[in-house]
Amino acid sequence: MQRLVRSARHKPLALTVANNSNRSTALNFATRYMATMKALVYSGANRIAMQERPKPVLAAPTDAIVKITKTTICGTDLHILKGDVATCKPGTILGHEGEGVVAEAGAAVTRFRPGDRVLVSCISSCAKCEYCRRGMYSHCTSGGWILGNTIDGTQAEYARIPHADASLHAIPEGVNAGAMVMLSDIFPTALECGVQNGKVTPGSTVAIVGSGPVGLAALMTAQMYSPAKVVVIDTDPKRLEVAKKLGATETINNGTDDALAKIQDLTGGKGCDTVIEAVGVPATFDLCQKLLAPGGVLANVGVHGVPVKLHLDQLWDKNIAITTRLVDAGVTPMLINQVAAGKLRPVDLVSHRFKFSDGEEAYRTFSQASETGALKVILKMGNNSIH
Ligand SMILES: NC(=O)c1ccc[n+]([C@@H]2O[C@H](COP(=O)([O-])OP(=O)(O)OC[C@H]3O[C@@H](n4cnc5c(N)ncnc54)[C@H](O)[C@@H]3O)[C@@H](O)[C@H]2O)c1
Ligand SMILES: [Zn+2]
Ligand SMILES: [Zn+2]
Repeated sequence: MQRLVRSARHKPLALTVANNSNRSTALNFATRYMATMKALVYSGANRIAMQERPKPVLAAPTDAIVKITKTTICGTDLHILKGDVATCKPGTILGHEGEGVVAEAGAAVTRFRPGDRVLVSCISSCAKCEYCRRGMYSHCTSGGWILGNTIDGTQAEYARIPHADASLHAIPEGVNAGAMVMLSDIFPTALECGVQNGKVTPGSTVAIVGSGPVGLAALMTAQMYSPAKVVVIDTDPKRLEVAKKLGATETINNGTDDALAKIQDLTGGKGCDTVIEAVGVPATFDLCQKLLAPGGVLANVGVHGVPVKLHLDQLWDKNIAITTRLVDAGVTPMLINQVAAGKLRPVDLVSHRFKFSDGEEAYRTFSQASETGALKVILKMGNNSIH
């Protein structure tokens, strides 16, 4: 799947800005007689359309309607555009990241009321089912990753958020919400699937393979645990430059250098205690296995679309562990506190800003990251400034 994402990034997307020409008669009726909004809609392989859609309404007493103020694009949205995510049907409004203001709260919503500033989690959680009670919110039996996947998402002026009480987070007064939207997905992903699963500890050595937004967020959140060394490995020199600025002890371009030899040099031949896989292709999973020190943890974050090799012949006696995880977003309140305290600067991952009305241009920029240098792009609603 990651291979397809890379090819999606290199191939310009055939983006279209549609009016309502391809909408059903029912929808035309709805858009004529109901309150409408602008939304970025998945319109079939490689097609995205800025459309006029009916504003969402409360469908359950536990829902809230959020007036979105900022949203962003995820690599996963590119997976969808390539047609790789079978659960996401054409016609779905994209997006699982957003910040905004509560416009309406259902009768059973107790934690939020209209006017509250909120962060939308990429994971919707009922907080009651078997998986939610085990902290595995991503596996919620009536939630999980549904926004911009199985239901309409956040790349719109309004979004319906199911299970609002446990799926929204208040943005505290006085916190500069500048790039809070980075906390909807990539920071919890990096921290939970990479740093915490990888058991980063004070004085340990960490290798992060992949210097995209998720790998860089892992680099930033690993520093909360004071490791001795964090080495970031990628083939893109621009992204390695960013890693250096964000505190990588060393960077390795494994397109030009032998990453294994360099890691051996840097660790006195031992390897790394934590190795975080933040790419999602067989070659990088293979490399990660080679970089592990005895007793180490390989924390997989990348979405893999094809099988990988497990080198048990090399690893059986090394006391290692391999972990996998879909982001649960349970750490989000802690991350909000870190931002409020000025200890985490998610804004450092924002490379581009667009007005929401320029959404298709934002998709083009994001999908051609190696040429444009894009990391995360912010789309801001309203027609004034982009900040
Ligand atoms: N587990 C989860 O819940 C979860 C959540 C969100 C994202 N993800 C996944 O995390 C991964 C990283 O996300 P991202 O947005 O940072 O992706 P990205 O595509 O922006 O970044 C991947 C990076 O890997 C680098 N790369 C590609 N091939 C390489 C190679 N052979 N050696 C070294 N580097 C190589 C690229 O240059 C790029 O910088 C993706 O697979 C994404 O789908 C997982
Ligand atoms: Zn995402
Ligand atoms: Zn649940």
